[in-house]
Amino acid sequence: MSIQSRGKALITGASSGIGAVYADRLAKRGYDLIVVARNKERLEALAARLEQETGRKIEVVQADLTQRSGLARVEAILDVDPAVGFLVNNAGIGVGGTILEADVEALDRMVQLNATAPMRLASAAARGMAARGAGTIVNIASVLALTPELFNGVYSGTKAFLLNLSMSMQNELTGKGVRVQAVLPGATRTEIWERAGVDVDGFPPEMVMSVDEMVDAALSGLDQGELITVPSLPDVKDWNAFETARIALKPNLSRSHAAERYRSAHAA
Ligand SMILES: NC(=O)c1ccc[n+]([C@@H]2O[C@H](COP(=O)([O-])OP(=O)(O)OC[C@H]3O[C@@H](n4cnc5c(N)ncnc54)[C@H](OP(=O)(O)O)[C@@H]3O)[C@@H](O)[C@H]2O)c1
Repeated sequence: MSIQSRGKALITGASSGIGAVYADRLAKRGYDLIVVARNKERLEALAARLEQETGRKIEVVQADLTQRSGLARVEAILDVDPAVGFLVNNAGIGVGGTILEADVEALDRMVQLNATAPMRLASAAARGMAARGAGTIVNIASVLALTPELFNGVYSGTKAFLLNLSMSMQNELTGKGVRVQAVLPGATRTEIWERAGVDVDGFPPEMVMSVDEMVDAALSGLDQGELITVPSLPDVKDWNAFETARIALKPNLSRSHAAERYRSAHAA
């Protein structure tokens, strides 16, 4: 294929699932790729297939993003390579269990991977993109950002962190030519479930989307200029109503006096 390169896209967690499908779609859209994960063999197999199918250049970067050294190597690429105009912050894990049961070290690694790493990579990417006046950052959050009662609260918290970070970055960067999209997938058939010890086949089939359909919907949302994409939500008006309700709280969230119901006569 001889289409001219659209620059480079860096995708974390590209060795399987959602990240591997983004790699496929972005290579087919004309991006050269930098694919990042721990499993080098899988990354090399993906790179070989996509180079053969699309003619794009694919660099493989083996890095554990829970380790400062691995994360620093990927940040350095974003710092120094002006060709990277697209970042997909996708690598993530889901540690299950309640806060009483879960291994706190495993929760801490999840925070490193799901929150600290994408924050540092988004920050590095945004600095270069804003200076160049162009770029796209896609943060893969989750509908669990909105539904903490459905899974481990720390996982939900990392995804709410990414959603809030994305919304704040949208405010800051839109005027500088940088697009930031948060994607909130629902249950998507990937290895994440098996890795978390959850049988995705135990869910009602109507709740689980194929990974190809999820990524294609997210890219369609990006093409349509959406800042937040919830691939499974049938009516975008429901999201807009949720946002309207949140924004309606704003004038009353910081005031010089406590609400009437908290004043001492009522509290007694
Ligand atoms: N599947 C769903 O239902 C669903 C729903 C909402 C959101 N998400 C989010 O979607 C993203 C992708 O997940 P997925 O469903 O595609 O799962 P997946 O198939 O398990 O992919 C996770 C990716 O992250 C990489 N990764 C894991 N630990 C890493 C580490 N320490 N350092 C660097 N890379 C690491 C994995 O590669 P290596 O093992 O080779 O490192 C893999 O490429 C995650 O952020 C997840 O939270 C998924």
